[in-house]
Amino acid sequence: GKKIIEKYNLDYPILVAHRGSSFTAPESTAPAIKQAIKSGIDYIELDLQQTQDGELVIFHDTNLLRLTDAKRVFPQRENYDLQNFNLAELKKLNYGSWFNVKNPGRAQADYSNLEILTLSEVLALVNPSKTGVGLALELKSPYLYEEIEETLVKELAAANVLETKNKKPKIIFLSFSPASLKKLAKLRPESPRLLLTKRNFVSPKRWQRWLDLTEEIADGIAPKGHVSFPWYIGAAHKRDLFVLPYVINRSWQLKIMSWFSADGYITDRPKLLANFYDRV
Ligand code: G3P
Ligand code: CA
Repeated sequence: GKKIIEKYNLDYPILVAHRGSSFTAPESTAPAIKQAIKSGIDYIELDLQQTQDGELVIFHDTNLLRLTDAKRVFPQRENYDLQNFNLAELKKLNYGSWFNVKNPGRAQADYSNLEILTLSEVLALVNPSKTGVGLALELKSPYLYEEIEETLVKELAAANVLETKNKKPKIIFLSFSPASLKKLAKLRPESPRLLLTKRNFVSPKRWQRWLDLTEEIADGIAPKGHVSFPWYIGAAHKRDLFVLPYVINRSWQLKIMSWFSADGYITDRPKLLANFYDRV
């Protein structure tokens, strides 16, 4: 893992806040992002999708109903998939109230009036050149959006966040989709790429096959939590791939995985992570 981390000038271990500080604020919203910036981590992980009118926005689910009041605002619609809404419509939705209802102990008044953010709003909010915090951008369900990789790389280039010049990259790409990572490798070979896998426990043979695929299209693999036993991490390191388990929210998990030499972690609790590694 170390070799690839050095190649890209990444911090070791790589500390990533999952959907911002999503334990303490509604996922992928401005407060979640601001809290993550302050926490001392390296990257903020956010999911990208595309509106009907072609804007890149940050939203995890393909459907709007879990996280917004789309049904109340647009009662006549038959289908609440994000891809069927344009940006002006999405901006009318309430995108935070669910958090206060679900987590009364962590509720805050200003969480009840938030909006879905575009990628360009997030770039302005995070301002990687100033804060030193980068973005780990996941292409979510990229097969739904034609040429989303091209659109993304163009937008990032226009915002001047792709140039690395021997510095830590401001942008990392992630996806569950090998096809999408392949496209990004062609469009932007200089940016680190991570293959996500939902698998928790896999046989050693199967893990090697995952690593074969990772080697082809990415620089590292992000497995779901506990697959990160020493042997699994070691097998990835033998191929100079880095391993970034998700979503690691507990101190005991961090402790165990640090013994096993994970190269970093994706967490809903960036403060916990930053404290564990004395980054604050
Ligand atoms: O960063 C890994 C993680 O984001 C992948 O799962 O469903 O939270 O996007 P999900
Ligand atoms: Ca994600």
